[in-house]
Amino acid sequence: MTADQPYFVTTPIYYVNDLPHLGHAYTTVACDVLARFMRLDGRKVKFLTGSDEHGQKVEQSARAAGVPPQEFCDRISPAWQEMTRLLNISNDDFIRTTEPRHVRGVEALWRELDRRGEIYLGRFSGWYSVRDEAFYDESELVDGPQGRKIAPTGAEVEWLEEDNYFFRLSAWQDRLLAWYEANPDAIAPRSRRNEVISFVKSGLRDLSISRTSFSWGIPVPGDPKHVIYVWLDALINYITALGYPQTSDGEFATFWPADLHMVGKDILRFHTVYWHAFLMAAGIEPPRRVFAHGWWTVEGQKMSKSLGNFIPPKELVDRYGLDPVRYFLLRELPFGNDGDFSHRAIVGRLNGDLANDFGNLAQRVLAMINRNCGATVPEPGAFAAADNRLLMEAIGLLDDIRPLIEGQAFHLALETIWQFVAQANRYVDDQAPWALRRSDPQRMQTVLYMLAEVLRRLGILVQPFVPGAAAALLDQLAVPVDARSFGDLVIALPHGGELPAPHGIFPRFVEAEAAAGN
Ligand code: MSP
Repeated sequence: MTADQPYFVTTPIYYVNDLPHLGHAYTTVACDVLARFMRLDGRKVKFLTGSDEHGQKVEQSARAAGVPPQEFCDRISPAWQEMTRLLNISNDDFIRTTEPRHVRGVEALWRELDRRGEIYLGRFSGWYSVRDEAFYDESELVDGPQGRKIAPTGAEVEWLEEDNYFFRLSAWQDRLLAWYEANPDAIAPRSRRNEVISFVKSGLRDLSISRTSFSWGIPVPGDPKHVIYVWLDALINYITALGYPQTSDGEFATFWPADLHMVGKDILRFHTVYWHAFLMAAGIEPPRRVFAHGWWTVEGQKMSKSLGNFIPPKELVDRYGLDPVRYFLLRELPFGNDGDFSHRAIVGRLNGDLANDFGNLAQRVLAMINRNCGATVPEPGAFAAADNRLLMEAIGLLDDIRPLIEGQAFHLALETIWQFVAQANRYVDDQAPWALRRSDPQRMQTVLYMLAEVLRRLGILVQPFVPGAAAALLDQLAVPVDARSFGDLVIALPHGGELPAPHGIFPRFVEAEAAAGN
């Protein structure tokens, strides 16, 4: 049993040179579902997100905007904090890499690596992409237009020669491989784990971890001509937010190693090769698991400002409502795969799964109780075999979905819940409580009670995914706010409770209105 065990989940920290879009919303919502699920399951959770504010890319963006970098960061970081509010994200902390608590921790980790002989001064010459803030090997590049060299991500690279500090990454190859071997679930999905292992097996070179040709970063302790490589700086956020270098007590002692770093597939190498090596070299345990999810395209194309298909989360939320967006993002794709966003697909899910299946179930049950049972939870008589069957299924749901959530198979967890919703709808049709009203009012009460109890259980279970709609449903069942955790599932709905007037939880999306709003 995992209750009482702490759970630490993180999003990547977002670059402040960009504004939030659908892809970022995806990562953040997925983490929010995990954090909410674990809290409801009785675990002590820390859910961290934040903004990545140093480096050449941010420095260039600030220059283009004509403001000093710190001012630029102060201006953009709130947009990322605003995204968490817009999406009803339950993060416990938001870290900015320009905060003193972070800077102190980064300096401490640098000194620790230095003290252990893991850092040396050398001369770097090679290819660098400012867009990716990453070094590339010549063999990874392809030729682009006008003699340009292009990285596998599509970003342009430039030739760089400067004095840099290096981290002895090459010395960690075997120990990394042994660690991956000993921790088979530490990188997911499996295909990504294989990718990482073959990258490490192909040979690791020492990594440049400082830069001298610009200044927007944390100065290297004892050699301030250098600033610390932005990825080293950024990765350390996961421990500075826990109070590192204070490790013997406080949040670090409670929450490290992280249970999950959620990342997109593009930043997997940083999170499973460099980060693990830095940590091991500093004598710190690597995170328990890193999950790399896929990328969204929009109507078949890569999202970009120039193509005009860049989707700010606010646009989606304004159009479809927050809970439908959250549901769609996690239901539509097998988590881990790439996929395509289309308005047709989201409308299909909204009107099908949400309005027709779940919304309609809730609406018909609550309306019948309101009309036929004096707007109070009816008193049931003895349960029939069909009632017990439905109830047993409902009781089994949490155990069915817990391992799916723990494995980040959000789409399967939702599919499992919605299969049960379909079963509950069949039960309504089979039992036909509207016909029982005349023929057997006592039996009608039992059927409607059973359905109210089933709705209560569903409402509690879907809270991590659609917190607003779930709260509205539980309010309509008069379930007290402090009786909505998974531990409360075992206490059945008491009869006799007065219910407020019912209203729809998932309204249908009508195309004509959307067209008018366009
Ligand atoms: N700052 C780094 C992360 C440092 S973590 C120590 C960074 N930031 S980012 O803002 O560029 O990207 C953040 C996340 O958004 C990444 O996980 C990335 O995969 C994700 N996405 C960006 N575009 C995306 C899509 N189109 N689809 C899905 N996720 C995408 O990288």
